[in-house]
Amino acid sequence: MSLVINPQNPTNPNFVGVVSGIDLRRPLDEQTIKAIDDGMNQYAVLVFRDQPLTQDEQIDFSIQFGPLDSGLRKATGAPTRFKYDQLIDIGNVAMDGSVADKDNKKLIGVLANQLWHSDSSFQDLPVKYSMLSAVVVPDEGGQTQWADLRAAWDDLPESTKRHIEKRTGWHSAFHSRILLGDKDYTPEQLSKFPPVERPLVFTHPGSGRKVLFPSVHISEVSGMSVPEGRLLVAELIEHATQAKYVYAHDWRPGDYVIWDNRATLHRGTRYDLSIRRDLRRTTTLERELMTATAES
Ligand code: OGA
Ligand code: MN
Repeated sequence: MSLVINPQNPTNPNFVGVVSGIDLRRPLDEQTIKAIDDGMNQYAVLVFRDQPLTQDEQIDFSIQFGPLDSGLRKATGAPTRFKYDQLIDIGNVAMDGSVADKDNKKLIGVLANQLWHSDSSFQDLPVKYSMLSAVVVPDEGGQTQWADLRAAWDDLPESTKRHIEKRTGWHSAFHSRILLGDKDYTPEQLSKFPPVERPLVFTHPGSGRKVLFPSVHISEVSGMSVPEGRLLVAELIEHATQAKYVYAHDWRPGDYVIWDNRATLHRGTRYDLSIRRDLRRTTTLERELMTATAES
């Protein structure tokens, strides 16, 4: 095995690794899966270049890390242009393959992804890794950024740590969309994703590091009024997304990036929506926790 991981940034050497010496289209042996999991626990984000994957290849690669989730489509039932429900469309391409026009409903999801979040934190089933495969990217804009929530916790003032340590956030699937003015969800859709309570601070099971976990999906914080809670979340996101904690990825077609949703926030950056951007995501469920739940 010749897999090599190099830190992307010497000034935050435990955040973002660049991986070489692997072909993601080949089935992985146990040792390689472990090397990637270990890399994920250390770096939280792994970047692979020159790995153009077909739909089948992305599914086959991803599923080696756990069962795959199909995201919000479970509630919205939106149509997909892909062969698999588990390929999540992170682009502006319409069902017929053209660039979606301005009033296409799917663009609300594209735009909501430009707010700092962790994928699917609003659902009961806990998710672990997300993986993005870049097929077509615009020349300008449309980067994806990740923020290191472990370093963000480490650097918080003690008084803030004490203030938030025992608190929880209520994560709601539609909160970020409603913030953007998209309010037309039926009671039935809303009821498929009731808000989920998650700690604002927890210990990452793979690295043992503490994680600060704010997100645009949080609509309320325990023990606080709604406005106080939202202000606290805004403050924590502002802290966690300072330049020193953020990596911005300039996409090239064929790039593949894996991140740990339990250790990072991410967002897309603005681009001209009339220019084609085609990225495809897979997201794994947290196998360990699911097994624990099944056994209890
Ligand atoms: C994602 C995501 C943002 C973007 O893939 O989950 O939020 O536009 N992406 O790159
Ligand atoms: Mn996302």
